[in-house]
Amino acid sequence: MDQAQSKPVFSLPDWRALRNDFPVLTNSQPALHYLDSAASSQKPQAVIDAISHCYSHNYGPVHRGLYALAEVASEAYEAARQTIANFVNAENTNEIVFTRSATEAINLVAHGWAGQHLKPGEDIWVSQMEHHANFLPWQRVCQTLGTRLRVIPLDEDGQLDFETAEGIFGANTGLIAITQVSNVLGTINPIEQIVRRANRQSIPVLVDAAQAVGHMAVDVQALNCDFLVASAHKMCGPGGIGFLYGKQERLAETDPLLLGGGMVDEVDIDQSSWAEIPARFEAGSPNLSGAVGFAAAINYLQDIGMGAIEQRVQQLTSLAYQTLSEIDGLALYGSPESTSHSGILSFNVDDIHPHDVAHIAAEHGVAIRAGHHCCQPLMQRLGVSSTARASFSFYNNEQDIAALAKAILDAKQILGNR
Ligand code: ALA
Repeated sequence: MDQAQSKPVFSLPDWRALRNDFPVLTNSQPALHYLDSAASSQKPQAVIDAISHCYSHNYGPVHRGLYALAEVASEAYEAARQTIANFVNAENTNEIVFTRSATEAINLVAHGWAGQHLKPGEDIWVSQMEHHANFLPWQRVCQTLGTRLRVIPLDEDGQLDFETAEGIFGANTGLIAITQVSNVLGTINPIEQIVRRANRQSIPVLVDAAQAVGHMAVDVQALNCDFLVASAHKMCGPGGIGFLYGKQERLAETDPLLLGGGMVDEVDIDQSSWAEIPARFEAGSPNLSGAVGFAAAINYLQDIGMGAIEQRVQQLTSLAYQTLSEIDGLALYGSPESTSHSGILSFNVDDIHPHDVAHIAAEHGVAIRAGHHCCQPLMQRLGVSSTARASFSFYNNEQDIAALAKAILDAKQILGNR
């Protein structure tokens, strides 16, 4: 048979129907225009059902019991790890460590790897657009270890300025810790190139992929990064669970951050030995419902298709960019017109405080975030104390954007340039 003829025909997802998968979006009266998915995404019924089913039928302690329910629980927990490993294309399932969050995962690497392996005088490079979660742990490593925190500056368009990041790929660099997508500007950083250049000098790279995994296809083997972190709640999954991906050899060099039950081999009065990886990094009773919900979220996203999700969010963001650009006095940060931009738009309007914009937006049923977004070094670079931020997901629609524009115009009318 002709190969072209045998190819399956893919149709675009029915976005309107998919929106109906999110009870909070369909149940809210008056209508909810949820434009704060970069802070935390909404949850589809499939994820809510998976968590409910877990508690109703399969809940038990993980890796701690010999009865049937405990075994079912342990299997579900490990199956979820496998789902994540497949999703990010980890070579080995044991390279996925469950954490409470992306934040905890970075702290684990800072304490357990950098704190053990870097030497005083070596450089840790971050960028000026980092979330505090990918800034403070390194600042502390530097304060305690005597390493130097170096910052990749940003150019006028909010892009990383490597020209002025002198020595970043040099022999003195012990680690580069960098975000894949800015949670304020939406900039998608050229992570592949950064890792490739770092690899040539054997410089380890940690990627903060909290705004990337679940929003675009992420392949840790293709990236060849040493560590990568993300959290479930930003990708339709539950709160309180995230993961650390670490190359096997890197995790083998890493000390556990949390000590306690489940992470030991043998405990004596004077000293103890650790369990195998990844259990070594998962002290305490594992979060089974979180892991099950996380896996359900990944399955849900994969059923839609990561390519389709990315395209949809780009279309919505570009419509929002065009709509907002027409509003007098509105300043957009970064370069949202660029193709390496995700579904996040930060802005200020006239001299209105972003909290007032967010407040008036809330009265229109529009949920946006305002503040420094846990990125004070970036705010300093932008010369502002805070911004308003709208962030988009595939479940948003044109009405959400129209409602945002109306809310901003209303804010201008009430408070603008008085
Ligand atoms: N990191 C989250 C945000 O950007 C909370 O809003």
